[in-house]
This record gives sequence, structure tokens and C-alpha cells, in this order.
Amino acid sequence: DPAIADLSKDAAARAAVALVEPGMRLGLGTGSTAAIFVRRLAQRVSEEGFALRCAATSKATAELATSLGLGVEELDEIGWLDLTIDGADEVDPDLNLIKGGGAAHLREKIVATASERMVVIADQGKVVDRLGQFHLPVEVIPFGWQATRKLIQRALDRLDLTQRPILLRKRGDAPLRTDEGNLILDLALEAIPDAEALAAELSSIAGVVEHGLFLNICELAIIGCPDGSVVELR
Ligand code: A5P
Repeated sequence: DPAIADLSKDAAARAAVALVEPGMRLGLGTGSTAAIFVRRLAQRVSEEGFALRCAATSKATAELATSLGLGVEELDEIGWLDLTIDGADEVDPDLNLIKGGGAAHLREKIVATASERMVVIADQGKVVDRLGQFHLPVEVIPFGWQATRKLIQRALDRLDLTQRPILLRKRGDAPLRTDEGNLILDLALEAIPDAEALAAELSSIAGVVEHGLFLNICELAIIGCPDGSVVELR
């Protein structure tokens, strides 16, 4: 139920806004949950009137934040961040994540790893025992992408993840282009028995820019509930 999910996302977003301190250098995530966070953050900043420095993980988030009066700068203008708040597509009990459902995981991973802390906000539907039900997004360079897809298939074969479809993400009839002008291949894995091994295999392929596995990056997940309460996973 989308309405219930929205209440949950809002609960998580409000709890995350409470982590923000005046003067912080903040990374803003991408997706529907991160957008709620940005709105709640803008509300608090306009009420309390303190300074922040924000970097965005996508053009969409930069536009939203700017439209709400939050100043957005390039990551390299700020240099390093204190805290990044972002959503996720899946969160496992060790706080490993799948991200990139919104095709933004490359910038999201750059911003998250350029932060002292990354905190995920999500509804309960994102919490899983084991990663992989959600299609794993892999951003690839357009040049030779079909060869890259073959290499990904071979890597999956080596990991006994045989016959898993690898789907070119579309927007309408055309291949989707990321903010960096690349393509997204979605891996329909069903389950990922060894996320570290898969991450290493994918990262070793020349045409792969970045995959959506976020391993050992997130240190706190705030899971919102429809009644407005939150559960923290550490
Ligand atoms: C964007 O590329 C993703 O990593 C998002 O963070 C993720 O898809 C979560 O989005 P929702 O908050 O809309 O579920």
C-alpha cells in the first residue's frame, strides 16, 4: 500500500532530520524516501534558520533541494561530508544494501563514501534477510555494452548464478541514460549468496562503472513504521 509506505518513509525521514546539526556538510540521497527527507530538512532549516552545506546524489535531488531553498554545491566544492542520508532498495541485517533502483547509485556511492557517516532511511518493505530479490543495478559504459554484458554473464556463471537474466533498463522505448550518460543493466539474481565475491567480480570488468551493492558503507538504518515510530538497525 503506497499510502502506508509514505507514512513509513516520512517517519524515517523525520528521524533522520533530527540527526542534522547546524553547519553540517550533508549528502542528499535520491529516490522517493530521500525526497521526503529533503522536504522535511528544508522545513526545519526555514524554521530554525541555520546554515548547512549540501551536495546532491543526482540532478533530480539537486533540483528539488534548490527549489526548496537549500543551497546545493558540487561535492568537490565542499570537499568532504559529515553525513549522507539516502534511501535503499534492500537492507540486510548487516546493513549491506542494494541501491540504484533510481539509476543514481554511482553518484550515491561516491557521495556516501565521501562522508564520515552514511545513514539509510527506508520503510519496512526494504528490509530483507538476504540481498538479491531486487534486481541488482550495474552502471556500464555505452561503448561495447553488449560485450560487457557477456563478461557479467560469465562472472555470474563462475559464482554459480547461472541463467540469471541481465536486462537493459529502458525509459520508454529508449535505453535509460544515467546522470553520467551511461547505461544500466539490471541483474535478476533472486538471491546473492556471496555479495563480497559478486562485488569483486563486477568491479573487475572494464566496462562496469559501478554496481549497486553497498557493502560496509551504511552504519545506521532508520526503518519507519506506518504509526510514525522508527526502528534503528545498527
Ligand atoms: C536511487 O538510485 C536508489 O538507490 C534509491 O535510493 C532507492 O531506489 C530508494 O528509492 P525509494 O526511496 O524511492 O524507494
